[in-house]
Amino acid sequence: MSQKKRVLMICLGNICRSPIAEAVFENEMNKRGLKNQWEVESAALIGYHTGKVPDYRALSTLKENGITNYSHRARQINKDDFNKFDWIFGMDNDNIQDINALKPKECRAKVELLGSYDPNREVIIRDPYYDIDSAGFQKAYEQCLRSVTAFLNKYTN
Ligand code: 4NP
Repeated sequence: MSQKKRVLMICLGNICRSPIAEAVFENEMNKRGLKNQWEVESAALIGYHTGKVPDYRALSTLKENGITNYSHRARQINKDDFNKFDWIFGMDNDNIQDINALKPKECRAKVELLGSYDPNREVIIRDPYYDIDSAGFQKAYEQCLRSVTAFLNKYTN
């Protein structure tokens, strides 16, 4: 059997967008019976929230969209991730800049914007952390779902 393909979702804090992206990927993988083909994790660029559960608005958004079994503790990206994962996805251009600054010259991972797969071409998944409500979380969820769906359609046999 061939090796699993590995995807790492990255955002600044790993408590809002990248956990949503990870949960959506995991849910699609399970629905399509692809657990033997794919692995997904998520991580932060900053260490500030390490060990924390996702923001309550991320978890409530996932629940409202039928994803009830997701659990996660924030962790920070490290150098080994660049050779463990096949794709490392950032949510916005700042993420991509920060990921590329950490990236070794030679590595396995391809660094891309998750939104580059969005058929609606909403390429940037905006940080909703400082919003006063959860509308930005629902928007991030919908963007993640469209991109993850298109990505899995492209790379799954
Ligand atoms: P995330 O959102 O990158 O989508 O997890 C943020 C969470 C925390 C902070 C910034 C963005 N922060 O500055 O603490």
